[in-house]
Amino acid sequence: MTTVTEADALDGLRDALGRLKDREQVAERLLASSAKHSFDPDKELDWDAPFEDGKWFWPPELLSLYDTPMWQRMSEEQRLLLSRHEAAALASLGIWFELILMQLLVRHVYDKSATSAHVRYALTEIEDECRHSKMFARLISHGDTPWYPVSRTHQHLGRLFKTISTTPGSFTATLLGEEVLDWMQRLTFPDERVQPLIRGVTRIHVVEEARHVRYAREELRRQMVTAPKWSREFTRITSGEFARIFSVAFVNPEVYTNIGLDKREAMAQVKASAHRREIMQTGAKKLTDFLDDIGVLRGVGRHLWKSSGLLA
Ligand SMILES: [Fe+2]
Ligand SMILES: [Fe+2]
Repeated sequence: MTTVTEADALDGLRDALGRLKDREQVAERLLASSAKHSFDPDKELDWDAPFEDGKWFWPPELLSLYDTPMWQRMSEEQRLLLSRHEAAALASLGIWFELILMQLLVRHVYDKSATSAHVRYALTEIEDECRHSKMFARLISHGDTPWYPVSRTHQHLGRLFKTISTTPGSFTATLLGEEVLDWMQRLTFPDERVQPLIRGVTRIHVVEEARHVRYAREELRRQMVTAPKWSREFTRITSGEFARIFSVAFVNPEVYTNIGLDKREAMAQVKASAHRREIMQTGAKKLTDFLDDIGVLRGVGRHLWKSSGLLA
């Protein structure tokens, strides 16, 4: 009996050491990639070039109202203006996510050895996110568009979440914030119909975010094996709730008012749009497949994910 317990303990120790080694190897690779492919948006992008007439600030198919009855009635000029304001709203949302994420990363490494590659990479990622947030802020002002904050309620929920979330919950939220926008940005930067500055911003973000997604996925996969049962269950439920908030906060409804549309009518049409539902579900598909694979999409949490509209 004693021998079995000792053998189990040894197996457990070996697994834990294997995970630590794996964690360090992933971080070393990400550090090497950060050293090679990091960008200073202030120097890298041409901020002096004027915007080009007739070019989009976001691909039309990815705009919330695309293909709705309201869209059919809008002039080309108003559609372009919507793209300009939605891009500013997404950049504002991006900054909100980046700030939450930076705090989650600081909390994640707070009690870990600062000499480990895992912590050094987290600090490198925070540097990336600082540059991204400044880049998005500059883009918003440069486009003569307003700052679009999330609602007060979402701000308070974000404040609570970034303070109390457990590690797996934090990384699930991180991936949700990163992957849907990443999917859209991958369609945006190669698109010749889009303003060159927007293409530049999204290209930089895609290159640097690929590392962040890798780091969060690998850590979440490990955490869903090692975290206590209550924490894994808490992650399933909080991530489902976060998905519901995310899908509502995704486009700030003030964009409709600011381009002269009826806000309520626009929101109702976006909600009823089959095209929009498909875009959001396709954008989240890679993430929801991954979360399903590692056991996040179960029980009550799965129902919440479905009601968010991100999971088919
Ligand atoms: Fe970022
Ligand atoms: Fe990121």
